[in-house]
Amino acid sequence: MLIDGIHKKAIESSSDFKVSIIDQTLLPHKLKYITLKNIDDCVKAIRDMWVRGAPLIGVTASYGMFFAVKDNPSELHIRKAYDVLISTRPTAVDLRWALERILNNILKLKEEDRTNYLWNFCKKLEENSINQCSKIGDYGFEIIKSKIIKGKTFNILTHCNAGWLACVDWGTALAPIYKAYNAGLDIHVWVDETRPRSQGAALTAWELSKHGVPNTLIVDNAGGHLMQSEKVDMCIVGSDRTASNGDVCNKIGTYMKALCAFDNNIPFYVALPESTIDFSLESGVNKIKIEERDNEEITHVSGINSSGALTRVKIVSDMVSSHNPGFDVTPARLVTKLITDKGICEASTDGIRSLFR
Ligand code: MRU
Repeated sequence: MLIDGIHKKAIESSSDFKVSIIDQTLLPHKLKYITLKNIDDCVKAIRDMWVRGAPLIGVTASYGMFFAVKDNPSELHIRKAYDVLISTRPTAVDLRWALERILNNILKLKEEDRTNYLWNFCKKLEENSINQCSKIGDYGFEIIKSKIIKGKTFNILTHCNAGWLACVDWGTALAPIYKAYNAGLDIHVWVDETRPRSQGAALTAWELSKHGVPNTLIVDNAGGHLMQSEKVDMCIVGSDRTASNGDVCNKIGTYMKALCAFDNNIPFYVALPESTIDFSLESGVNKIKIEERDNEEITHVSGINSSGALTRVKIVSDMVSSHNPGFDVTPARLVTKLITDKGICEASTDGIRSLFR
């Protein structure tokens, strides 16, 4: 998508094996590119959330495997690299999806062919992600187009960041929004702040604004009120892991938005590529490992001060204890439809089976 009129992707690689990412922890205040040079860089980038978002984690981890194999293509080294990378973040299933595919294929190859295979795998994964997100965008665009009333702005609420910064390009939840905006439809996005890490405020509002999409930042608790007062026409979110029955695990707070949408008869869509479906899970509620994040994400906030310097401040007393689960599960019954790269389906076992056999 565009940054000040220039097309950018969340991860880019060149033929001399240079892999470049944006340090997303510095956004929206600073746009800094970082070159990943080895597996340790990739592990750090995922663990410290320089990159985040299910599809982008999968692609970055694959480059991590590439660097590991380029260093040493032995089976022992590959298995060690797999173990380190798989433990970086537990909830987003794209990570496991990509690493298992690599492990299943690479050990069948001769050692001297492994590096080349992995480089091509990473490039293909990147390309596939862009194509899948673009298709999600096309399917979601048709939904938005069908709901728009001439002369009236169409208001979409989204949670967290499921845009191009979370993928390679386009995004999942934001892809239909970009397609609608690019086609000239009159849309506006309510952006949930998404505490504690504020992916909505720091990333979604930034990337939408950079592309030119009208948007307004709201605190996480405002959505219910906006839905009651008929200011939301539709919700679209992404997914970190979708169970076979359509239960959706996404950023903490998604479930509450789905409940509010259900209560107010507002369609609640989830946009996801095939790699986010965990076919080994029959259902998701209480079945998915929910990442527990550092409590400092709750007790402290960062931003720039009036001199423009990045600052971190504590906002609670020392007596306070806190708990910081990173994701929650929205039961399929609250999801209107899944928008996938293969088409639109019911959030149900049959619905998912109808598209992914
Ligand atoms: O903790 P994060 O920032 O990695 O969480 C990201 C999300 O929850 C996104 O909504 C999800 O990965 C879907 S991204 C296309």
